[in-house]
Amino acid sequence: MRELEERICRDGIVEDAEVLKVDSFLNHQMDVELFGAMGREWARLFAGEGVNKILTIEASGIGIACVAAQQFGVPVVFAKKSRTKNIAGEVYHTDVPSFTHGGSSTVIVSKRFLGPADRLLLIDDFLANGAALEGLIDLARQAGAAVAGAGVAVEKAFQPGGARIRAGGVRVEALARIKSMSPGRIEFC
Ligand code: G4P
Repeated sequence: MRELEERICRDGIVEDAEVLKVDSFLNHQMDVELFGAMGREWARLFAGEGVNKILTIEASGIGIACVAAQQFGVPVVFAKKSRTKNIAGEVYHTDVPSFTHGGSSTVIVSKRFLGPADRLLLIDDFLANGAALEGLIDLARQAGAAVAGAGVAVEKAFQPGGARIRAGGVRVEALARIKSMSPGRIEFC
């Protein structure tokens, strides 16, 4: 999506070969008009897929998912990074390893909000190592929900997540795919 690529070139900051800062418009200060354009693009790409719910993950996915959901006319559920031990049986839970921060976190979704009748679009801001999306796919599998696909804003295509998730049969639509980057230079696929 040209508009997002242009914005990344204008306002994104490549910190090192691995980390792109987009906190002025995507994951801290949020440009909701840009989110609207992104939501319209996913709605076009996934038209006719029968999406009836969007599933995202705390925290940065939520804003993007909510704006996208308006285009689909469906609710958003977000996987919560759990801080308390939840009573087994009430929630689906999965572990999401963090390659950037180390360790892993358990994320949960109430069983009341995901089930076999759901056909999900997964949304997140970044696709890097793929841990977050794979966690969402696992939650969907546990719930017996179908995954229509995944929409991500920025895919760092030089990291392995996108290839692995597509190889697993999930359709991934990234609105900006970065082939390589270094301070002052970004090359899109
Ligand atoms: P993944 O997102 O594909 O699972 O990969 P990874 O484990 O490498 O990412 C860990 C966290 O870092 C994720 O956020 C992800 O969105 C974020 N991230 C990955 N690459 C970049 C990058 O180049 N720039 C920025 N700004 N963030 C990146 P998180 O810690 O799970 O949560 P949150 O930020 O949504 O709260």
